[in-house]
Amino acid sequence: LTLNGSLTSVEIDSRMRLADLLRDKFGLTGTHIGCGTGNCGACTVRINGRTSKSCCVLAVDIDGSSIVTIEGIGDEENLHPVQEAFIEKHGLQCGFCTPGMILSAIQLISDNPAPTEDEIRDSIAGNICRCTGYVKIVEAIKDAAHRMAEVKV
Ligand code: FES
Ligand code: FES
Repeated sequence: LTLNGSLTSVEIDSRMRLADLLRDKFGLTGTHIGCGTGNCGACTVRINGRTSKSCCVLAVDIDGSSIVTIEGIGDEENLHPVQEAFIEKHGLQCGFCTPGMILSAIQLISDNPAPTEDEIRDSIAGNICRCTGYVKIVEAIKDAAHRMAEVKV
């Protein structure tokens, strides 16, 4: 597989979930496991350019695929515009949901560069946050869309 831009390979148990592969074999612990049943979105990653809940994907099924986790989005010196927006607009508290929220926001903005508030709320319907009440997350995603539009200009 290609993982965050690097070609890699690994031998695994055929029953392993993608979320466990990322965390346990590659140490990519930004992929969180909340429910393990496809409901919370904490385990969201990108598979071949589309978001997916990695707790519901068998690792063997991503053989040959391109996977991007939150660690592949940006780093402390070079944050992605969506990460900057979440920090500046206080779109997080404990941070448990944040990797999944950011990956869902990136998917939304790449599909729809100027989303309405309703579209933003729809796009994160599969991501549960226990802390923020969502208002600040929605504001952060609105701000992120503006930032990404400026980057493109
Ligand atoms: Fe995958 Fe909750 S841990 S959706
Ligand atoms: Fe704590 Fe969302 S910031 S769960």
